[in-house]
Amino acid sequence: MAVARMRNTKGENATEIEKKIKRGNALRQGSTWRGYRGLLALLLVAACVCTLAVWLYMSYLDSDITQTLVSQGELVSPQPRVFNIQCSEDYENYKRYPGCTPQRCGRAVTDSVVTREEAQVLRRLAERGLALAGSEGGASILDLHSGALSMGKQFVNIYRYFGDQIRDVITQEDLQLYRDVRGRIQAVIAETFGLNPTLMYLTKPTFFSRINSTAAKTQHDEYWHPHIDKVTYGSFDYTSLLYLSDYGSDFSGGRFVFMDSNGNQTVEPRTGRVSFFSSGSENLHRVEKVTWGTRYAITVSFTCDPAHGISDPALP
Ligand SMILES: *[C@@H]1O[C@H](CO)[C@@H](O)[C@H](O)[C@H]1NC(C)=O
Ligand SMILES: *[C@@H]1O[C@H](CO)[C@@H](O)[C@H](O)[C@H]1NC(C)=O
Repeated sequence: MAVARMRNTKGENATEIEKKIKRGNALRQGSTWRGYRGLLALLLVAACVCTLAVWLYMSYLDSDITQTLVSQGELVSPQPRVFNIQCSEDYENYKRYPGCTPQRCGRAVTDSVVTREEAQVLRRLAERGLALAGSEGGASILDLHSGALSMGKQFVNIYRYFGDQIRDVITQEDLQLYRDVRGRIQAVIAETFGLNPTLMYLTKPTFFSRINSTAAKTQHDEYWHPHIDKVTYGSFDYTSLLYLSDYGSDFSGGRFVFMDSNGNQTVEPRTGRVSFFSSGSENLHRVEKVTWGTRYAITVSFTCDPAHGISDPALP
């Protein structure tokens, strides 16, 4: 009996111990499993972070690297903001004019050469002039020097086409302001690049442009293609733009984009803002498509070659 009891007790004890062992094993397995789960979660998080990083990097490589050089809201005054760039070799294919031919190249922006009020007067002149005709879409231009005005798919000469009536649209005061502004732009370019302003000549085309979101119907009204002014117009040495409307409130899109191999830089138009740059391939650029509203600007171009100089506009 005692033996049996003992065996029994032993048996009981044995099952107790087995249970304990099993429980222990189960607990141990459980905690290993919990350990695995923790590791798995950690791995999952790590994988997610990696995927996100790769995705961010890919989209960074993929997307435009676009930096805003000058935004619409800032006021660049009194000194121009200047970015120097190494000159391209484009100028070497042309005769050199000491005191004018670019030795220093770059791009610059200033808001202190033309006042907002002056720009508004010029904008009203552009509105009146371009209201006489205009292209069928894309950019419309008005060149007061040659008299060229977009009309449908062609151009007309406003001085011939409208005769004396053009005096109702363009006044002597308007032309005086235009000359004045041209002179001030010439002076700031000369000062910035260390030139003699009397050795710089206004050249063609120098013109008003009006752009809205209607698609261009002809190639010459397509303004958004990347280009190099010195390649397009051999005579150009310095190009400037005077903006007559505001990015963001008068129109959207239409930012000026300098395209560099390592990224793009934009200038946001602001009424009265002047941006200017050396015309060679160091300043490859384009204008973004306008998405709504109307963008007005004047392109004022300069050459160092007196043979390509043009005079200020005058009424016939
Ligand atoms: C610059 O912009 C153009 C389009 O305007 C784009 O095709 C090009 O990838 C951009 N360059 C860089 C480096 O972001
Ligand atoms: C844009 O200008 C053209 C003339 O160049 C005009 O026919 C068209 O209606 C204008 N579009 C808008 C959306 O204002």
